[in-house]
Amino acid sequence: RKKDKKEQKGSTFLVLANRLPVDSYTDENGNIQWKRSPGGLVTALEPMLKKREGAWIGWAGGTSEPPAPFREDGMKIVPIELTQEDVEEYYEGFSNATLWPLYHDAMVTPKFDRSWWGKYVEVNQRFADAAAKEAAEGGTVFIQDYQLQLVPQMLRELRPDVRIGFFLHIPFPPKELFSQLPWRRRVMEGLLGADLIGFQVHGAARNFLDLTRDFLGLSPTENTVVAKDGRQVKVDDYPISISSKEYDTLARSAEVEKLIHQYLSELGNRRIILGVDRLDYTKGIDRRLKAYREMLADGMLDPEEVVLVQVAPPSRERVESYAKLREEVEREVGGINGEFGRFGLPAVDYIPRSLNRTELAALFRIADLMMVTPIRDGMNLVCKEYVASRIFGNGNLILSEFAGAAQELKEAWLCNPHDIDGMKEVVKAAWDASEEEQKRRMSTMRDHVFEYDVDRWASDILHDLGID
Ligand code: ADP
Ligand code: G6P
Repeated sequence: RKKDKKEQKGSTFLVLANRLPVDSYTDENGNIQWKRSPGGLVTALEPMLKKREGAWIGWAGGTSEPPAPFREDGMKIVPIELTQEDVEEYYEGFSNATLWPLYHDAMVTPKFDRSWWGKYVEVNQRFADAAAKEAAEGGTVFIQDYQLQLVPQMLRELRPDVRIGFFLHIPFPPKELFSQLPWRRRVMEGLLGADLIGFQVHGAARNFLDLTRDFLGLSPTENTVVAKDGRQVKVDDYPISISSKEYDTLARSAEVEKLIHQYLSELGNRRIILGVDRLDYTKGIDRRLKAYREMLADGMLDPEEVVLVQVAPPSRERVESYAKLREEVEREVGGINGEFGRFGLPAVDYIPRSLNRTELAALFRIADLMMVTPIRDGMNLVCKEYVASRIFGNGNLILSEFAGAAQELKEAWLCNPHDIDGMKEVVKAAWDASEEEQKRRMSTMRDHVFEYDVDRWASDILHDLGID
């Protein structure tokens, strides 16, 4: 492929994700400005992006015409346009009403809609085209998550010279579930366009390898599958993490200290159980509320002594199952407060919005018990953030066995969120745990979270992708 000089330029390291790592805001002069959103992924990839004239391709949210590519914080930002129809069919439809529930144990029935699939193909092609245009000769393209599973193959066809990595942030289901997908072969082949496919946990990588044999007739070995044209595709687990040191430093800051005093007095100096989740049906918020309500009713917890703080910013609100969940959760919160709250002292303090990191760190610091009880979660970062924020080495993490993080944080109080009685027992045990017991568990988890932070994740996966 001949290219003139101008064309040969481009980015040697490219990240593709459905969302950009920047948020827009309007400044005092009424101009649109951008600021970096505080995600672990961008923090982890930043050194690589800066070192290698990096670019990030993604959607800015919304449906207005996106700005031309621009530079921000040492990286090039390339916005992808989505029309109203694209948002409805590719994002809300195929990504979040087909793939998301299917990959999370089909706990909500996935919808299989042929026109959504068509739009998914079309938008994936748009991302692949943008990457093909942007990537330098021999560069590396690192593609993120379930919204973009067809991009590896599409990009390989356009640009066989680039190295392609893919990382799935959510679970990858077993054959019994994945088989439901009418376009299952296309998705598998899409992914296999990559040189490396990363999953959160070993079981997910295993599921994928098995499927390459069952659906594509390939002969995978432990960590490798040899795909069409004799290419070796590396398949492995790379559990993602957080910027642990940053959280620890933030949790020790004066701003956090100030907020702690304010929160404690506002919450009536009761002991705090905390939940922090996007309002998503996978997070098990309903089960958590049920267990809490029963504990108050049974007298296992005394409403004079405890408050459940549940932070739950609404998410994907135009998808039906999310709107329904919001109603259910709000009804249940109202019910618990009606029954057990007192004037000015609700039994559940429900905060239906995003908080900034300082506010979150302050809540993590004052929570005696943190409840992370998803029905299924690829990893779950909130529990790692809690651990990193426990600067005095005490505290109780109650963690669902069905979060990827449970494979690493084995000293948490593990629970099965389907088993309400079992969950109540675990909460009670954590509630009564001695300081010594708390520290024994927490110190092992802190060691783990500091050693396996997001920088370690990025260096492991990028090393295996052939760049350091
Ligand atoms: P998911 O990616 O499914 O939402 P994770 O636990 O893996 O779940 O990651 C969620 C991220 O979003 C964490 O970094 C967490 O701190 C952040 N987050 C969750 N809830 C809130 C909130 N109410 N306000 C601000 N950030 C939040
Ligand atoms: C999960 C997914 C991400 C997604 C995020 C927020 O973490 O793995 O890909 O960006 O949720 O969801 P949203 O639909 O708002 O992007």
